[in-house]
Amino acid sequence: MKPGEFTFTMIKPTAVKLGKLVPILHEIDEAGFSVIAMKMTRLSRAQAERFYAIHKERPFFEELVFFMSSGPVLAAVLQKENAVEDYRNLIGNTNPSDAKDGTIRKKFAISVQENAVHGSDSDENALIEANFFFSQFEIYPHDEEYC
Ligand code: CMP
Repeated sequence: MKPGEFTFTMIKPTAVKLGKLVPILHEIDEAGFSVIAMKMTRLSRAQAERFYAIHKERPFFEELVFFMSSGPVLAAVLQKENAVEDYRNLIGNTNPSDAKDGTIRKKFAISVQENAVHGSDSDENALIEANFFFSQFEIYPHDEEYC
């Protein structure tokens, strides 16, 4: 996988619970992203703490960890040129009330915390986050021979 050509996403517990998983995947597909790894799983408290460790000092950290371990998530690696930036444009602002019309968060988020999806904020974090959820044997980039 080449940096710049992939990003990591999670569809968060509330969106999964409300049946928005397939509609969100449809938006991702329509925007030209290819799913090259995918799994549904439930984070333990410790895993959620580790995934969001960068936010440890933020006042919302405890609530975020509780929420993200409250039910299943859909984790995926998405391939596309300029993936990180294009995906952040597709999902919109962290706070759905500031997100542009047509973005995934505008359509599916219910609050700044329960904001439907996560998207990596840099190529470096896309790699760290993809490796958090997937081994090298679970990611199938389109440009690699694996069949
Ligand atoms: P995400 O893109 O997954 O990255 C960090 C998460 O922290 C963010 O989405 C929100 O779910 C959550 N978050 C960010 N800011 C706030 C806030 N002010 N209050 C509650 N949760 C927040």
